[in-house]
Amino acid sequence: MRFPAPRQQVPPAEKPTAAKQFERKWNSRLSPSVPNLLPGVCGLYQARGSTGKMCLFTNNQQSCASVESGCVAKLSEISISPSDRVFILTGAGVSAESGIPTFRGADGLWRNYRIEEVASPHAWARDPQLVWEFYSMRRQVASSARPNPAHFALAKLEQRLADRLFLCTQNVDNLHEQAGSKNVIHMHGELFKSRCDSCPRPPFDDAHLYEPPAELPRCACGGGIRPHICWFGEVPFELERIIRALDACTIFMAIGTSGVVEPAASFVAHVRARAKTIYVGPEEPANASAFTQCYLEKAGEILPQLF
Ligand code: APR
Repeated sequence: MRFPAPRQQVPPAEKPTAAKQFERKWNSRLSPSVPNLLPGVCGLYQARGSTGKMCLFTNNQQSCASVESGCVAKLSEISISPSDRVFILTGAGVSAESGIPTFRGADGLWRNYRIEEVASPHAWARDPQLVWEFYSMRRQVASSARPNPAHFALAKLEQRLADRLFLCTQNVDNLHEQAGSKNVIHMHGELFKSRCDSCPRPPFDDAHLYEPPAELPRCACGGGIRPHICWFGEVPFELERIIRALDACTIFMAIGTSGVVEPAASFVAHVRARAKTIYVGPEEPANASAFTQCYLEKAGEILPQLF
């Protein structure tokens, strides 16, 4: 989908934000012939339609009907016993109240950009400059964001549970860490890190904005320096550790994630037979029927009351 011409998007008096400036460039360079991404079993992909039927672990054909009556939970503190192990999966909704846009909400990033154009190996091969402009814009937005009460509540929970809490985020911002969380698994990578696309040099801290006229960053080996992000079609980070933690958990909680991106969307199906499964977010996720309790509220408003 193409967007209106820049003059219609930005009123003359308004100073364009980093996001708007990027959107203008992006519109002018949109390729009409990018192939649709094919889902891979282990790679990051978005389920077609709203039901997320392919399940990484069991091949169950999950019916993602709406939340069953009685599933919407009443507010009360979640009881966590000394033998419980808690797995928390967070998504873009956790950072929404900090001003970082989600991907699929009303102002979501994927309403304005085509995933294939900016977040895939194909995009990197075709137009690394455009990819870096997209991630530079996101670095700019994230660098001024501060944690909200949801991040702080999760950091407090880690203090209480120590290694009985496994915090796995799909978010690439560092707001969990800013709130004080010490052990965070970033399964989709980290916005403020980069790595070489050719050599095994480990990812390194990098908050630079690579926008013209700056040259694209290059590694000493001659390769290109790319964002340390798991793009669509790539394999998420730390999957083995994540699966071990899923196998061990007795309480699984997903917060602020739409349940359409695999493999994270199937985590709940993997654990639901033996763990309590809880969802927090203002809207039902696509995999809502796999949860035993759903708190349809904003994370920042409800999490401080749940722990
Ligand atoms: N509190 C909790 N949830 C919220 C809030 C809030 N204040 N505001 C919005 N949400 C919910 C929305 O209702 C939506 O269900 O957050 C969810 C965000 O969904 P997505 O935008 O799809 O984000 P997410 O599920 O994290 O996306 C997964 O997709 O594009 C890729 O790699 C990217 O990590 C991302 C992955």
